[in-house]
Amino acid sequence: MSSIQSPRGTYDVLPDDAARREVLESRAGKLLGGAGYRRIETPTFEATELFSRGVGEATDIVRKEMYTFDDGGGRSLTLRPEGTAPVCRAYLEHGMHKLPQPVKLWYLSSFFRAEAPQRGRYRQFWQVGAEAIGSATPETDAELILLLAELLEALGVRDTRLRLSSLGTPETRAEYRQELTAYLRAHEDALSPEVVARIGLNPMRAFDAGDRTTKATMRDAPTLLDRLAPEDEQHFVRVRELLDDASLSYELDPTLVRGLDYYARTVFEFTSDALGAQSGVGGGGRYDGLIEMLGGAPTPASGWAAGVERMLIAAGELPLVPELVDLFVALAQPGAARAAFKLAHDARRAGLSAQLELSGRSLKGQLKHAGRLGARYVAIVDGHAPIGLKNMESGEQHEIEPATVIPTILRGSRLA
Ligand code: HAM
Repeated sequence: MSSIQSPRGTYDVLPDDAARREVLESRAGKLLGGAGYRRIETPTFEATELFSRGVGEATDIVRKEMYTFDDGGGRSLTLRPEGTAPVCRAYLEHGMHKLPQPVKLWYLSSFFRAEAPQRGRYRQFWQVGAEAIGSATPETDAELILLLAELLEALGVRDTRLRLSSLGTPETRAEYRQELTAYLRAHEDALSPEVVARIGLNPMRAFDAGDRTTKATMRDAPTLLDRLAPEDEQHFVRVRELLDDASLSYELDPTLVRGLDYYARTVFEFTSDALGAQSGVGGGGRYDGLIEMLGGAPTPASGWAAGVERMLIAAGELPLVPELVDLFVALAQPGAARAAFKLAHDARRAGLSAQLELSGRSLKGQLKHAGRLGARYVAIVDGHAPIGLKNMESGEQHEIEPATVIPTILRGSRLA
C-alpha cells in the first residue's frame, strides 16, 4: 500500500465501478432526455454566498459541511455541496427566462460535504439531478416524481418507498413556525438538549430528532400539513391525484424535513430499505422562492437529486453492458509485433474495437486472455502473410490474406 491514501470520505472509481456508472448514466440520460431534460454542467466551486443565501444559513450543510476556501484574491469560494442553487445561478446568468418555459435541465456531477463518512455517505459524492425551472403546475412536480421513480426502477434499486409532503408557502410556514415554536417551548423538558438549542434556528428539525423522548413528544406536535392555505392544499391534492393515476404509491409524511431551506409546497424523498442508516436515495421538491432570493424575478421551480453511490448500493448487481472487443491481435512470434500493431490500428480506424497483445504472453496465453476479454475474433499474426483468423464463438479458424481480415470482421458484425 502506498503511504499516501485518498482523503477520508473519498474513493477511487475503479474500472469495474466505472462500468456500472456508465450504465447508470446512460439510463438516466435516456430517461430524462426523453422527457425533454437537457444536460447542464456548472463549475465545481462557486461563490460561497450562493450557498449561504440559496441553501440557507441555518442548515447543517451551510453551518458545518461546506468546503470553503479563500481563492488568494480575497474571494470566498465553496466546493458545491448541491446542484440546485448553481443551476438557478446559471439560469439567471444566461437569461434562460427568455427561453420557452419551463427550462428542463439535468446533471450528473460530484458534490462535496464535510460529513462523517459511513456506508453511503461520502465527502465527495455524485448526484443525478433534474430541475424544471419556470413552471408552477402540480403536473411538473408529479412528472418529476414519476421520473425519479422510473429511474430507480430502471436501475433495479430495491425496496423503495416514497415519502411525500407539502411545506406550504413561506407565509403559512411562518405562522406555523410560531405555533410549533410555542409547542416546543412548552415541552422543553421532554426534548433533547440539541433540539432545544435549535428551537429558535429551525424548529422543524425537531421532527428529525433520533432520541426516543423527543420522538414521543413530536408525535403530538401540530403539523404543517393540517394548516396549509387553500391554494397550497389544492396544489398538493392535484399532485397526489396524478401520482394515484400513475399507480405510484407513497406515504404522506407530515414530518418530512429536507436539509435545505429553499423548499415550498411539494417535498418528497425516496428511501430504500436495501441501504443502511443512510436510507435516502433521492429527494427534492418545489423551490418557488429560490430564483428570487438569488436576485431574479419570482420564478417557480421544482426538482430532485439522487445519490449515485446510494443508487448503486441499493441496486445490487446491475446488469452490465459487456464491453465489446471485436478483435484481439495475437502474436505468433515476437518479430510480428510491427505487423500486429498496424492491424490493430487499422481495425480501430475502420470502426472496430481492437486490442493488441502487449505483455509477451505465449500464444496459448494470448488466446486465453482474448477469451477473458470476450473478443469475437482473434487474428494470429506471424509477420508473414497469411493471417490466422479465429472466430471465438464458433471456434473455426481460417488462414486469410491480411487485407481481408477487417472486411471479414465487419461483415460478421453486420450479420451478428
Ligand atoms: P439532498 O437530499 O441533500 O438534496 O441530496 C440528494 C441525494 O444525494 C440524497 O438523497 C443522497 O442520495 C445523496 N447524498 C446527499 N449527501 C450525500 C453524501 N454525503 N454522500 C452520498 N450521497 C449523498 C439536494 O441536494 C437537493 N439539491 C435536491 C433537489 C434538487 N431539490 C430540488 N432540486
